[in-house]
Amino acid sequence: MAKPVIIAQISDLHIKPPGSPAYGKVDTAAALERCVTALNEFLPRPDFVVISGDLADTPSPEAYEYLKRLLAPLKLPFAGIPGNHDSREMMRAAFPSAAYALSSGPLDQRIEVGGLDLVLLDSSVHGKPEGELEAPTLQWLDATLASSPDKPALLFLHHPPFKAGIWHMDRQNLQNAGALAEIVRRYPRVQLIATGHVHRATLTMFAGVPTTICPAPNHAVDLDLAELREPSFKVEPPAFHLHTWFPGEGFGRLVTHHVPIGTFDGPHPFFAPDGKLL
Ligand SMILES: [Fe+2]
Repeated sequence: MAKPVIIAQISDLHIKPPGSPAYGKVDTAAALERCVTALNEFLPRPDFVVISGDLADTPSPEAYEYLKRLLAPLKLPFAGIPGNHDSREMMRAAFPSAAYALSSGPLDQRIEVGGLDLVLLDSSVHGKPEGELEAPTLQWLDATLASSPDKPALLFLHHPPFKAGIWHMDRQNLQNAGALAEIVRRYPRVQLIATGHVHRATLTMFAGVPTTICPAPNHAVDLDLAELREPSFKVEPPAFHLHTWFPGEGFGRLVTHHVPIGTFDGPHPFFAPDGKLL
């Protein structure tokens, strides 16, 4: 089988200046350090890492400086897109060598990795928790997808274009999901729409395409599907996603793995040296 192309996705890092836990409880810096270690140790080595928004918790130059210090040990190339907790201007300043498609406004990027197009869309809206793709981003997405119709493309944005059933997150999802769907439906090369924002592993179909939410390395949004509680979080097992693309007929096959972060018992062999099941 041809060697797969492996795209790691991490999301919602929520880095604050040193010494300030998120919501007074979560050490998001230590969580990111564990995540970076897990990415560095994973074999085969992922080809690229996409950070799908909320890099900072409250944007400030200090928070982005600390984020860069925490990401410095990462041995893999990476790119980030803003979430609702980020500042476009501060991200432009923090990552001056990023190849943003537009010289001002949204931080959209197309990154080619081993036969795949990674299309990073900025869905942030200044000062608002909900998301929206602005007209320049939609026009750029359309032109970008039209430019090489035979190449598989993975779309990344912070805000899910669907309701996951968690009431307080659903009202801050992507507000113009219909505009995204209208474009995606015209390009069969879109193999995945990968998002963040909800800090939970979630899967649905959107515009005929598998669409995921990536878990976070820190806390999870409480899975309150019954509107029982005020907006809450839980410190659940941290994880990231590995989008693994196997080249092949047509657009090949994309397989997404959920990877828990931490030290676990194993791996243990299933079989004894004589081939008998243990
Ligand atoms: Fe978010």
